Amino acid sequence: MQDVRGVPVSYGNQAALDRYEEALLTLHRFSYDPTPLLKSIMAVYPDFAMARIFMAVAIAGGSAGRNIPKLESRIPETENIGGLNDRELGLIAAVRKRCAGDWRGAQLAVDAVLAQYPHDTLALHFGHQLDFLLGDALNLRGRIERILPHWDESMPNYSHVLGMYAFGLEECNMFDHAEAMGREACERDTEDTWAHHAVGHVIEMMGRHEDGIAWYGNREGDWATGDGLSIHNWWHLCLYLMEMEDYPRILEIYDTYITPDDSFEPEPLADSNSLLWRLMIQGVDVGDRWRANGERWRQLIAAGEGGFYGFNDLHAALAFAALGWNDDLADLEKRAIAQSTQSHTLGNIARDVSVPVVRAISAFHEERFEDALDTLDAVRPIVARFGGSNAQRDVIDQTMMAAAIRGGLGSRAVSLANERLSRKPHGPLARRFAERAQTII
Ligand SMILES: [Fe+2]
Repeated sequence: MQDVRGVPVSYGNQAALDRYEEALLTLHRFSYDPTPLLKSIMAVYPDFAMARIFMAVAIAGGSAGRNIPKLESRIPETENIGGLNDRELGLIAAVRKRCAGDWRGAQLAVDAVLAQYPHDTLALHFGHQLDFLLGDALNLRGRIERILPHWDESMPNYSHVLGMYAFGLEECNMFDHAEAMGREACERDTEDTWAHHAVGHVIEMMGRHEDGIAWYGNREGDWATGDGLSIHNWWHLCLYLMEMEDYPRILEIYDTYITPDDSFEPEPLADSNSLLWRLMIQGVDVGDRWRANGERWRQLIAAGEGGFYGFNDLHAALAFAALGWNDDLADLEKRAIAQSTQSHTLGNIARDVSVPVVRAISAFHEERFEDALDTLDAVRPIVARFGGSNAQRDVIDQTMMAAAIRGGLGSRAVSLANERLSRKPHGPLARRFAERAQTII
């Protein structure tokens, strides 16, 4: 059989495939977690291999590490169904590489599937997520460009391909094209929160904070529901509000939507950390809000997340530094060092990026501001390798400016502020940094 995009599937039950499409739509829209629906599909159709592979891809497309043993242990069950086609086996190979820490290998395995099946949007989504997790801007854009000539607007999920393309273009700083693609994707599917978010990124990077508040405010019904990307989109709205120093509104949003609880996975927890840290840099009193962050990181680290993925380590370090939890900070550094001894993608990232970044946050916490700035300056050209978006990694730039200002390093503070002002000449936050830098010259 084939799915609605003409991609071969080794299971011949149309009712099962129809439910698979429902789950795929939630995945592409980032509207809801598709895994509960997939579980119910697998319960009714236990021999439907693609449902199992989809479940594995949905999990492997996130940054968590603690679920790897379970993920790996389920692969043989899927293979034992028998009769899997080369596309399905290719996706399993990519999941296996992701489980082994070979995330670059996983990217290439997905590439191999897409070269043969350019309409396989599950593979495309998986590749897009891996590219994001590795801060790989060229592939965020290029992966879509490699398959786009095989598509036209009459095909199912065309808009979701455009939404991914919009984000990839934005991460390559091709803002005009990105915004056009993102807005077209949103018009074609108003519930596509990934496409909405891609336009939000363009607006953020161009320093158009008033446009951003309007973009989010006018479309709140389309992005603020669901459990996929809504927390992250609230976080994006807060970035625009940071420009306007609307701290009461930010704290209200934080308390309503972004305060972590035991259900928070590393991705929303990182956003929560990042927002509190940015507020702290601006001198905003966030009260006792850090505690819930630190407690949740402790739980996740005890479960196996510490040292696993560098972008998450940065954010755990921010929480521990803000709380003054020095033992947790030291333990996190040890875990990142242990990861750095592994000879795979994640080990290389830990060695080159995560360990220095965690050390820099420790130095910042100990008020060794020049050390913190030197360390971040050295790692900054390659910091994208530990993942996240340009907007998320801006927390590094803001920390560097705070280190320069607090450390009385006037000329370096001015240099950093000049750089920011040239990118966001109308940005109030850039101006505030520049004004502070001038006071210590
Ligand atoms: Fe984002």
